[in-house]
Amino acid sequence: MSIDLPAVGTRPRQRRNGPRDPARTKPVADTTSPYGLFRSLQRAKKPTSTVGIGVIGYGYWGPNLVRNFAEQGSARMVAVSDLSVEHLSEVHARYPHVKVTTDCADVIADPDIDAVVIATPVSSHFELAMRALKVGKHVLVTKPITADPVQATELIDAAEQRGLVLMVDHTFVYTGAVQTIKQMVHSGNLGELYYYDSVRVNLGLFQKDVNVLWDLAVHDLAIMDYVLGQQPVAVAATGSAHVPGHQVNLAYLTCYFDGSLITHHHVNWLAPLKIRRTLIGGARQMIVYDDLEPSEKVKVYDKGITIAGDPQGARETLIGYRTGDMWAPQVSLVEGLRTETQHFLECVTHGRQPLTDGHCGLRLTRILEAAAQSLSQRGQPVALADGGATSMQGSVELELMTRSA
Ligand SMILES: NC(=O)c1ccc[n+]([C@@H]2O[C@H](COP(=O)([O-])OP(=O)(O)OC[C@H]3O[C@@H](n4cnc5c(N)ncnc54)[C@H](O)[C@@H]3O)[C@@H](O)[C@H]2O)c1
Repeated sequence: MSIDLPAVGTRPRQRRNGPRDPARTKPVADTTSPYGLFRSLQRAKKPTSTVGIGVIGYGYWGPNLVRNFAEQGSARMVAVSDLSVEHLSEVHARYPHVKVTTDCADVIADPDIDAVVIATPVSSHFELAMRALKVGKHVLVTKPITADPVQATELIDAAEQRGLVLMVDHTFVYTGAVQTIKQMVHSGNLGELYYYDSVRVNLGLFQKDVNVLWDLAVHDLAIMDYVLGQQPVAVAATGSAHVPGHQVNLAYLTCYFDGSLITHHHVNWLAPLKIRRTLIGGARQMIVYDDLEPSEKVKVYDKGITIAGDPQGARETLIGYRTGDMWAPQVSLVEGLRTETQHFLECVTHGRQPLTDGHCGLRLTRILEAAAQSLSQRGQPVALADGGATSMQGSVELELMTRSA
C-alpha cells in the first residue's frame, strides 16, 4: 500500500509544560503538504485536555509504544515518523487518524504534539531528544538514554532548564514482578543483601550501533538500580565478539558495591534458548525472578545458611543449612509499558518527576561506560566516581578480586 508522505513544512515553537493551552493562538496550518493538511483537519476536532504524542521510530519497539499511547484515554496519538515507508503504511492501516511522515522534523515541530517519544537506535537518541527539548516538547526516550554520560547530562540540563519531563523507557521497572521485588527488598524481608545475579540470553538480533551490554544488560542495570537503590563503586566486564566487524555479542558484567553486595549480569545474543532469570540472595530469604514464567514470575525461597561460632575465626565457624517454604507472591500481570506510558502522561500533565528520569538513565550510562573501559582492558575493574569511571590501582583492585573470589 502506498501512502502520501509529507514534505517538511512545520514551524518550531516553544512550549514549557503539559497539554497546550486552547486559548493560545495557533500558527496557520501549512496546507501545501499532506502532513500540514492532515494536521489542520485533525486540529479542528481534537480534544485539548489530552497529551498530544508523536512517536519517532516504528521498527520493533515503536509499535508497542504507539499501541499503548493509543489506548490511554489521557493521550492523543498525533503522529508517527519512521524512515521506512513500509513501516508507516502499517501505522496508517492500523491508526488511520494518525499522521505519518518520514521526516522526524515534522513531529518535533508539530504544535499539536506535547511530548515526543523516541524509539530509534541508540546513536540517534541524543540528537532527537535534544531537538525535541529545545522546541519545548517533553521527551520519553527508549533505553539506554544516550550513547554516553556527557550526552545524558546535557539532556537532563536541557529538560530541567525548560521545566520539561525527560523520562527513559526502562520498561521492566514498571512491571508487577519488579514492583513486587522492590517491595520485598525494601521491606527488609530478605535480610542483608548478598548478591543479584541475572542471565539475559537468546538468539538475539545483532545490533549495529551498540554492544550486547548497552542493548541487554541495560535492562538488568535498570532493574538493579531501582530494586537496590544504591550505586556500584566499581565494575568489571569481560566479553567476546564472535562475528567479524560486529561488536561484543557475549559479556559478563560484575558490579561491586560498598560492603559485600555484588551483582553479576550475563548477556548474550548467541544463545540457543531464551533465558530471563535473576537470583537475588539475602541473608534471610532469596528470590528467583523468571520473566518467561507466564504467571509465577517471582518465587521467594525461605532458604539460607546459619553461621555458628565466631564469624571472624574461620576454623570455628560452622555453617548450617536452613530450608523453609517456597511461595509465589501474586504479581500484577498488567503490561509494564501500559503502566509506564500512564506514568509518563501523569508526569507531563502534573509536572512530576518520573520514576525513571534522566538521572536514572545517566547512572546507567556511567556504569556502561565504565564496563566498556573494563572490557577493553580484559576485565580490569574500573572504579565509579561521581563524575564517571577511573581505572583502578593495585590495592583496591586486589581487594575487589579477593571479594569476588
Ligand atoms: N524496552 C524494551 O524492552 C526494548 C526492546 C527493544 C528495543 N528497545 C529500544 O528501542 C529502540 C529502538 O529499537 P528497535 O529494536 O525498535 O530498533 P529498530 O531498528 O527495529 O527500529 C528503529 C526504527 O527507527 C527508525 N528510525 C531511525 N532513525 C530515524 C529518524 N531519524 N527518524 C525517523 N525514524 C527513524 C528506523 O527506520 C527503524 O524503523 C532502541 O533504543 C532500543 O534499545 C527497547
